[in-house]
Amino acid sequence: MKNLKSKPERESLHSYSPKPLPFRTPLNGISDRTLNNHYDKLYVGYVNGVYLHEWYFEILGGDGKLENAPELVDTLTESYGSIESFIKYFSECAMASRGWTVLAWDTKESRLWIYNCDAHNQGGVWGALPIIVLDVYEHAYSMDYGADRQAYLKAFWKNFNWTTANGLFKRASAIRL
Ligand SMILES: [Fe+2]
Repeated sequence: MKNLKSKPERESLHSYSPKPLPFRTPLNGISDRTLNNHYDKLYVGYVNGVYLHEWYFEILGGDGKLENAPELVDTLTESYGSIESFIKYFSECAMASRGWTVLAWDTKESRLWIYNCDAHNQGGVWGALPIIVLDVYEHAYSMDYGADRQAYLKAFWKNFNWTTANGLFKRASAIRL
């Protein structure tokens, strides 16, 4: 058909380049070996999982300090009673997930929800904007911790970038549909 673009042109419309890791290594408890494997071999080669991995890497590389996220911490405290309760519950969800645990802003209800997704392309919710994306596939931690996902979750929170998460929350929560 005349109005269809040629194949190379169509491909260029959908080109997307991998982003560099947004933090310096080493992290405190997630090894360079794991990150190299995760970033170079998996993220760069993914199709469905690219955005989720970008959100995941974006909130790593921090110092785990809660005081850097006043708005997000206040909102989570309102919903879960305390920030410690939120971290405990989110971590429990992560223990039960096969792939991803996501805290997202629901633009219809104007509130935060936690979603577990067992696959990159399943379990996403229309209108929900990710704030905290946690990868719990075994490739994210098995080199460092074997089957001990709890130890990985502790390392995740230790390296969590609350400043970045708070920025995402402020931008996302301004959107109300
Ligand atoms: Fe991953």
